[in-house]
Amino acid sequence: MDTRIVALRDRKDLVPTVAKWAHEEFWSYAGRTLEQTQVLFTPVPRQTWLPRTFVLMQGERPVGTVSIVEHDLDLRPDLAPWLASLVVDRAARGRGHSRTLVKFIEDFARDNGVDRLWLFTWSAEGLYAKLGWRAAERLGRNGRDIVVMNKDLADDAQH
Ligand SMILES: CC(C)(COP(=O)(O)OP(=O)(O)OC[C@H]1O[C@@H](n2cnc3c(N)ncnc32)[C@H](O)[C@@H]1OP(=O)(O)O)[C@@H](O)C(=O)NCCC(=O)NCCS
Repeated sequence: MDTRIVALRDRKDLVPTVAKWAHEEFWSYAGRTLEQTQVLFTPVPRQTWLPRTFVLMQGERPVGTVSIVEHDLDLRPDLAPWLASLVVDRAARGRGHSRTLVKFIEDFARDNGVDRLWLFTWSAEGLYAKLGWRAAERLGRNGRDIVVMNKDLADDAQH
């Protein structure tokens, strides 16, 4: 079935789905309620091009999401911007959707003049390494070992 990527700010009806995924995978551990996560993902008009969230659609079904945000890691406020909140619906995993979402956000960042994109993860370093991301730093945060990774987008301009 055809897949396409839509901007969450053009499809606000998808906010509850995206918030539910992000809440289950990330924000519930941070003590945030589902309602608070939903507010976090509700697009509001801004002067800047960040933050932005996108949703991968398979036909009419949302199957995954990814965001780009200015800051994502309190320990590294000096670095920006960040790929964040990559989630693929549990029923749709293992089919390459995360690759599609990561490549999309890399292109989106590059098109907006970003040279180096950052992320942190505690569970998917291997996925990002396969997509050309490099581990830059290993840190402990909230009792977890995390790795900060980056990708130089200019190096990948021939994608
Ligand atoms: C991690 C996640 C986004 C992967 O989504 P997916 O669509 O199933 O991944 P893909 O099918 O695109 O996998 C791409 C490749 O990465 C590998 N991969 C997938 N998840 C991985 C993980 N957690 N760690 C290491 N490698 C992984 C796959 O085996 C695949 O490799 P291959 O192409 O050589 O076969 C999904 O499992 C998820 O939403 N998990 C919960 C949230 C999360 O952990 N997000 C990322 C952390 S920041």
